[in-house]
Amino acid sequence: MNIADLRKSYEKAELSESASHANPLQQFDQWLTEAIRSEVPEPNAMTLATVGSDLRPSTRIVLIKGYDERGIVWYTNYHSRKGQELAGNPFAALQFHWVELERVVRIEGVVEKVSDEESDAYFQSRPLDSRIGAWASPQSEVIESRTVLVTNAAKYGAQFLLQPPRPPHWGGYRLKPGNWQFWQGRKSRLHDRLRYTAQADGGWLRERLAP
Ligand SMILES: Cc1cc2nc3c(=O)[nH]c(=O)nc-3n(C[C@H](O)[C@H](O)[C@H](O)COP(=O)(O)O)c2cc1C
Repeated sequence: MNIADLRKSYEKAELSESASHANPLQQFDQWLTEAIRSEVPEPNAMTLATVGSDLRPSTRIVLIKGYDERGIVWYTNYHSRKGQELAGNPFAALQFHWVELERVVRIEGVVEKVSDEESDAYFQSRPLDSRIGAWASPQSEVIESRTVLVTNAAKYGAQFLLQPPRPPHWGGYRLKPGNWQFWQGRKSRLHDRLRYTAQADGGWLRERLAP
């Protein structure tokens, strides 16, 4: 098998100016809803790109936990690599790839922490083992072995029983989009790309990009 010969033709749908929403949040809502209804695997998984103080980018996958006019929300450990990079540089990018729908959404913007109340409410909605896990895992740190995690989980489980509070180093971030891009694969590599850029008056400029 030669990976250079792996390619497919994208022919499932199209994205036109006339059939897309003028507001990118509505377009995103439609596409995410379609991804969920289509039962694609992990439709809520998105790649998050951040940039470190050394100006080098890094990516990882996180789960979207909310979205509205204010932005896109996910939860994590504030001391993790991504947390440290966001503390130094709040500009970040998100990307969804819904393979079966031949669709990509890219979102770029500025990130801030969600309120403590919002993080508390989401934390309390999580299953118990996830709540204990937030205490047990010093995310992104080097650990001696897996035993560290298992021991920590047992320790915090015994300490907090059924009521673990939200760790102070764990919570949500919200990315406020400055621009969105919607990509729909098309035949002969003539894909559709619509970019929405935030305008000073609160509206959005919608432009077509060459694929
Ligand atoms: C499908 C999927 C969903 C994930 N969701 C999250 C998430 O919501 N929050 C999180 O902190 N890590 C999540 N992870 C783990 C991250 O990808 C990553 O390993 C972790 O956050 C550490 O990243 P960092 O060291 O770059 O900060 C997820 C991984 C996968 C594969």
